[in-house]
Formats: sequence, C-alpha cells, structure tokens
Amino acid sequence: MEKRGTFGSKLAIILTTAGSAVGLGNIWRFPFMTGQNGGAAFIVIYLGCVLILGIPGMISEFIVGRHSQSNAARAYGNVGFRKARYIGYLGILTSTIILGFYAVVAGWCLQYLFASIAGQLNGDTNYILEYFKTFSSDPIRPCLWAVGFIFITHFVVTQGVEKGIERASKLLMPLLLLILVVLVIASCLLPGASRGIEFLLKPDFSKVSSGVFLEALGQAFFSLSLGTACLCTYASYFKKDTNLLKSATQIALLDSFIAILAGLMIFPAAFSVGVQPDSGPSLIFITLPNVFRQAFESMPIVGFVISILFYALLVFAALTSTISMHEIGTAFFHEELRLPRNKATWILTLVCSFIAIFCSLSVGANPNLQLFGMPLMDFCDFITAQIMLPAGAFFTSILIGWMVEQQLVKQEFDNGGTLKTNFFHAYMFSVKYIVPLCILLIFLHQFHII
Ligand code: PHE
Repeated sequence: MEKRGTFGSKLAIILTTAGSAVGLGNIWRFPFMTGQNGGAAFIVIYLGCVLILGIPGMISEFIVGRHSQSNAARAYGNVGFRKARYIGYLGILTSTIILGFYAVVAGWCLQYLFASIAGQLNGDTNYILEYFKTFSSDPIRPCLWAVGFIFITHFVVTQGVEKGIERASKLLMPLLLLILVVLVIASCLLPGASRGIEFLLKPDFSKVSSGVFLEALGQAFFSLSLGTACLCTYASYFKKDTNLLKSATQIALLDSFIAILAGLMIFPAAFSVGVQPDSGPSLIFITLPNVFRQAFESMPIVGFVISILFYALLVFAALTSTISMHEIGTAFFHEELRLPRNKATWILTLVCSFIAIFCSLSVGANPNLQLFGMPLMDFCDFITAQIMLPAGAFFTSILIGWMVEQQLVKQEFDNGGTLKTNFFHAYMFSVKYIVPLCILLIFLHQFHII
C-alpha cells in the first residue's frame, strides 16, 4: 500500500491544522454573527462553547483520526464499530456542502483583492455599499471567482500534504496575525470607534434570545472545523508523539484570538462610518474599505498596500481552510472507492463548483433559488453550521465516551503512557456527559421543546 504522508514537525502540525481552523469563519462569519446577535454577550457564549465543547470535541476527532491513520469514513469505522463510519460519511457530506458556499465568499475576497490592486475601492461609504451590491448581483462574475477559487484549491490538493500546505502556512499565518493587529489599531483610532469597542466588550445579556445559543455553538464548531471529520482527516497525518490535548488547546485559543481580533477590526470601524453591525454577510466587505481609506487618509499609499496585503492574506487563510475541506472528500474517494487520487480530486471539485454556482446566484442574480424560505446559500450555511456540525460532534462524543474501549482512548490521549497528564478523567467526563448533553439541550432549546 502507498505510504501516507505525515506532517514534518510539531510546528507544522499546529500551523496546518490551525490553517484549517482559521479562515473566513473567523474573519467573515464571526463578525457578522456577533453583529446579528447583539455583540459581547454572543462572544461570551461563543467562548464558553469553544472551551467546554470545542476542545474536548477536537480531541475526540484527533483520537479517531490518529488511531486509524486513514480517511474519515474508514477512521470512524476502525475504532471498534463498523457502523460508526456513517459519522465519517456525514462529515464528508458536510464539508462538501461547506466548501460549496464557502468558495462563494472566498471568491468575493478574490474580487476585492483585484479591486484593491486596481484602486476601485476608493469612494465614500455609499459608493462602497453600491460596489458590493452591483458586484454580488452580477450573474457571472461572482460565480467565476467562486469556481476559480475551487480550482485553486484543487491545484494545491493535487500537490499533496507536505509540499502544498505546510510551507506556505509557516510564513503566511504569522503575517496574517500581524496585519490584523495593524488594522485593529487603525480601526480603533477612527472617530467614534469607542461605541464599537463597547459593543464588543460590554455584554448585554438581556438581548440574548433562544436562538443565540445554537448560533454560538454553530459558529464555534464552524470556526474550529469541528464535526466535519476534517480534524480527523488531518489527525490521520499526525505523528504518534503529537500531544493531542495541547494541540487542540493551542489551536482553539489561537482561533478564538483571531476571531476576536477580527471583531475588533470590524466593529469600531462599522460604528465609526455608520454601517449597521447587523448588516449580515456583507459586513466586512462594506466596512473594511472604509478603514483602508479613512484610517490612512494622510498616507494613502500605506492604505493601498495594507488593503492589498489584507485581501491577499484573507484569500490565503480561506485557501488553507478549503484545502482541508477538499482533502476530506479526496482522501475518501481515493482510499475507499479506490479511484486514482487525480480522479478523486476532480469529483470533489466538480460537485463543489456546482453547489457554489447555485449558492452564488441565490444571493445575487437569482434570489428565487430558495430552500425552506432561505436563499440557497443561507440554507447551506444553516444546515451545516447549526445542524450537521453539532450532529457530527454529538455522535463522535457518544462514540468515544460510551462505545470505544477506554483503553484505546487513553492510549491515544497520553500517547501510550509516554505523556504525564492529569486531564484524562476530566476529558472522559466531558465527552461522556457534558458535550452530548449540552449539544442536546441547545438543540431542544432552539426548537422550543424545552
Ligand atoms: N474553520 C474554517 C474557518 O473558520 C471553516 C471550515 C469548516 C473548515 C469546516 C473545514 C471544515 O474558516
């Protein structure tokens, strides 16, 4: 059998898995979700979900993946229960749908990258608003960008794990952090920015409605790439001495830190230029060009360079996430259906391109493309983030907490006894009771059953 690659170094593991986690989920979805759900109180609930449910959930996926070192479906089927492979199938389906609509937004980022290079984003707030509307309702351009993005992903995935992903992550992830910090400072210095900071940091729990919990849970899982079997697929390339608890904690903290930075970059600016915090998916696309223009008014060249760098890094962050989504399906078709890797990659690319085109049209040129009263794009977002991801994480916890032999779990958790750790029992308690119960309660609460 063909030898599977493993990640080169400890740093590469963290960066590559963090590369999957950090993406549009942090910089695009987190701010608009926070804006629609009242600000700071949402963030508190979100952070609670990351710490209490996210970290144990990540460890569980890591355990499944590293134990069997194979694609998601086989990995789930390999921990003692063949039927558990359906959790893997669910993850593969989820990540394929996510890749479809995610590519639409990634395509918007590509358009904004080229628009900022061409100097097309210079204008007042109304101009920038109109620019977004005109572009996103065009029947052709956004579809082309989205499909183009999937093709770029395709290209990287065909280059294999080590060559394609590792190298770029090492350089570009730290650069993204740096640019974010610069933009946070620029945004917070705009006139009237303090109201945005307050919106983010002063929780008002009276605004928390029943839906907020599921939205926060969905956002936490989406952002951590949890529940899609993506972490499981990446963990299948981990080394036997990778510390799973430490890796999960580091990635979750880094991911949340970046999301909060993104919030601090968007909201002070949004309040300063009078953009509504709850303006939805277009929020970053109508707020940020204002930051580039106004914050760097006296040094337009700096604003110009920073805007290009920002969109380039955003595209890169999105790419490291789409690669992980693509890799799940590719590894599955290649290893399970025994298709040549090349063919497997193409199947995924074509299916996702198809979803992307319809999603793109549904929020632009053809608003009649609806399912259950939502534009197709919103429907795909809803069904994945709020139903399929929590379901994937729920079933994984039940599997690890109640079904798999505890010896196997412990073996993976402490690397066969070589790691000294006091957290195994806390982890087991959490996957047995806390994670499944919390997910269940949040579901029941959302659908008004309790
Ligand atoms: N976590 C990624 C982000 O925040 C999105 C993602 C979801 C990636 C599911 C893989 C699987 O952008």
